[in-house]
Amino acid sequence: MESTLKTQIPIEKVKTSKIDQVDLDNLAFGSVFSDHMLVCKYKNGAWETPKIIPYGPISLNPSAKIFHYGQSIFEGMKAYKDDQNDVFLFRPLDNHKRFNISASRMAIPELPEEFFIDGLKTLLELDKAWIPQSAGSSMYIRPFMFASGEGFHASPADEYTFMICLAPSGPYFSGEVKVLIEETYSRSANGGVGYAKAGGNYAGQFYPTQLAKAKGYQQVVWTDDHTHENIEEAGAMNIFIRIGDTLITGPTSDRILDGITRKSVLKIAEAEGIKTEVRTITVTEVVEASKNGTLKEMFGAGTAAVISPIAGFGYRETDYDLPVLEDSYASMLKGRITDIQYNRAEDPFGWRVKL
Ligand code: PLP
Ligand code: COI
Repeated sequence: MESTLKTQIPIEKVKTSKIDQVDLDNLAFGSVFSDHMLVCKYKNGAWETPKIIPYGPISLNPSAKIFHYGQSIFEGMKAYKDDQNDVFLFRPLDNHKRFNISASRMAIPELPEEFFIDGLKTLLELDKAWIPQSAGSSMYIRPFMFASGEGFHASPADEYTFMICLAPSGPYFSGEVKVLIEETYSRSANGGVGYAKAGGNYAGQFYPTQLAKAKGYQQVVWTDDHTHENIEEAGAMNIFIRIGDTLITGPTSDRILDGITRKSVLKIAEAEGIKTEVRTITVTEVVEASKNGTLKEMFGAGTAAVISPIAGFGYRETDYDLPVLEDSYASMLKGRITDIQYNRAEDPFGWRVKL
């Protein structure tokens, strides 16, 4: 049944679309934005009716708490267009659920499901022409919310803003991905906010990632903050490691984002008869496996990154290369998951949602 909110969202359309200025067949990741955006305010203890307006600057007071205390969360999703021009979302209710998990941790009020789902469907329908169709492209969807209420008192704000912006996007990585296993800095800690998609989690990664980039790596692999001996996740991706023919990923925890791609990959791998293990993976084990030839693959999994094979890793000033495989798990799993996302194959798991 169609919810009533969808019919109530007022839409102010752009006077002139910018779509002709964009080459939808040649897109970088997340750097051009569609014509419209959704905005919804939380005031006096309640969410107001969302509205859709032209994409553009918003006005905030300098004392808005987002600027001072970083009360801000986001989600990352994609809309996929098939060759019939039909549009699909992938497990969107899981994103909504995680949005509210992040919100609670950051003392931000939860957002009702219909605001999230109806809001993004209405926005996508309006800007449907912006959804790219070329191989590897999709509409990256960025729902986010932040403390727009004012005050220098270090306590939660009394007003919040929920927004959704759309960025037609190509691949997140261009070229080979080499990672550095990090031992000095930590992304998160027990009891912290690592499992939330809080803006500050990403800001905190930028400096160590800049240091890794200067050494020729594209991404940092985070280890646990206590011992730096266990592999956790990689920047904006969960990480998978294939030793022999077993596919291993670490367990989720306070410190790790519970990735939707990660859990989908595990399900697909199991359905394909691949032996999977969800358990602590040590750096020592991975280095040993590389030395004795049993380390076959490493790859990152995430909405933006899809499945990104890792070409090699650095650890304690030594570089370890991964073999180039003809029939890797990464390419098979990427094929399976994107076939479901782009409506090129059956969806036995019921993950696809038609717009
Ligand atoms: N880990 C982190 C820190 C991320 O930012 C992301 C991206 O969203 C992921 C993992 C992968 O999560 P998902 O597959 O839900 O996009
Ligand atoms: C995503 O995969 O959607 C993410 O949120 C990663 C983002 C930091 C680019």
